[in-house]
Amino acid sequence: MEQYIIEGGIPLNGEVTIGGAKNAALGIIAGAVMADEDVLIENIPNVNDINVMLEAISEIGAKVNRIDAHTVVINGSSINTNEVKDEYMRKIRASYYFIGALLGKYNSAHVPLPGGCEIGARPIDQHLKGFRALGAKIDISGGSLHAKSDGLKAAHIYFDVVTVGATINVMLAASMAHGQTIIENAAREPHIVDVANFLNSMGANIKGAGTDTIRIRGVERFHGTEYSIIPDQIEAGTFMCMAAATRGNILIKNVIPKHLESITAKLLEMGNEVIEYDEAVRVIGAAEQRHTDVKTLPYPGFPTDMQPQMTVALALAEGISVVTESIFENRFKYVDELLRMGASIRVEGNVAVICGVKELSGASINVPDLRAGAALVTAALKAKGKSTLDEIGYIKRGYEEFDKKIAGLGGKITYISD
Ligand code: EPZ
Repeated sequence: MEQYIIEGGIPLNGEVTIGGAKNAALGIIAGAVMADEDVLIENIPNVNDINVMLEAISEIGAKVNRIDAHTVVINGSSINTNEVKDEYMRKIRASYYFIGALLGKYNSAHVPLPGGCEIGARPIDQHLKGFRALGAKIDISGGSLHAKSDGLKAAHIYFDVVTVGATINVMLAASMAHGQTIIENAAREPHIVDVANFLNSMGANIKGAGTDTIRIRGVERFHGTEYSIIPDQIEAGTFMCMAAATRGNILIKNVIPKHLESITAKLLEMGNEVIEYDEAVRVIGAAEQRHTDVKTLPYPGFPTDMQPQMTVALALAEGISVVTESIFENRFKYVDELLRMGASIRVEGNVAVICGVKELSGASINVPDLRAGAALVTAALKAKGKSTLDEIGYIKRGYEEFDKKIAGLGGKITYISD
């Protein structure tokens, strides 16, 4: 069992540097195997999900040379199977990006089906819709997905829902399909743009990433490249909310302020101070903060991955706030843990009605998923007294040295592992 022990009530002050974007790195690592030359990737976050993904590509035969914690050279020329092992899909859903990458490069892929997870059912019907439109034959048997084609052909694909995963997965496959594929109603997240820029740096021909229409003219082969991953929008937002909730003053470095606009807007509405620099933001948490309403939406709307962290900040703001989770159907489970710390929140379906309280009190808490874990750490840092958080392995999947960064800001947090 891995735990954090936190002594709360201390405002967090100081500077923190943000790492590379996990959700860009996952798509980029999958895409890197599509080249048969060395691909150097810098600024990868040293988190468990990334390390599992790197294990998965070396398992199928790709060469993986970890230069340092944040730099890797990948070469896909030695791949010797299109079959991804079940253990990887069970550990990380993003293994499904291998379908798009291997189908695009080898016209075949065998990948275990991802299950649902802590925050919802998370179907992959739009991924399959895209692959079928490109001419792939998809069979599902024995809990695995078998995709085959005689050569992918361009298609005009309209996604029924805005989906990050399907946009990246279909972009991967289409980047080597014959002709020009158009994806309509595409997701526009910063990590989509980063994956598209990465593929283009290997010789792909992708236009329009970051808008809702992406045009992809397939190419025969990719060449090697050197690429650096963008900063992680959600890690940055997490520390912004931490500054607000603990009434601290944090300079968050190595960010792209544009990617944080919806979070900045909400913290300003609450009465906090947010100062933007070229590659940093400073958040100064106001002593008295006001309520506001939040609805999670696809980018550039308020990110669902910031919903738990914002709910904690609002739980400590004066008045009634309403948070609507419009992306996932089960992303308020952590609220039960907040209630045990003295928060006053009522969840009805995908809406949380929050009545701000002056103070939270420490408790022993169970972490239900990655982003809820970061939010519960934030609540414990503000709460009066001691908190013990169990199952913090979830947090290590997406946050690098989370406890060290918090301790560097004056937070009293100890990592314990039996
Ligand atoms: C990505 O998940 C992120 N994960 C999630 O972050 C993030 O919450 C999510 O995008 C939304 O931004 C990675 O990038 C690895 P979606 P993904 O496909 O791609 C429905 C984190 O904390 N949908 O955009 O799985 C789906 O059920 C993680 O880092 C379909 O109906 O999300 C959901 O309601 C948690 N059919 C909505 O679309 C499909 O085929 C958005 O899902 C695909 C999705």
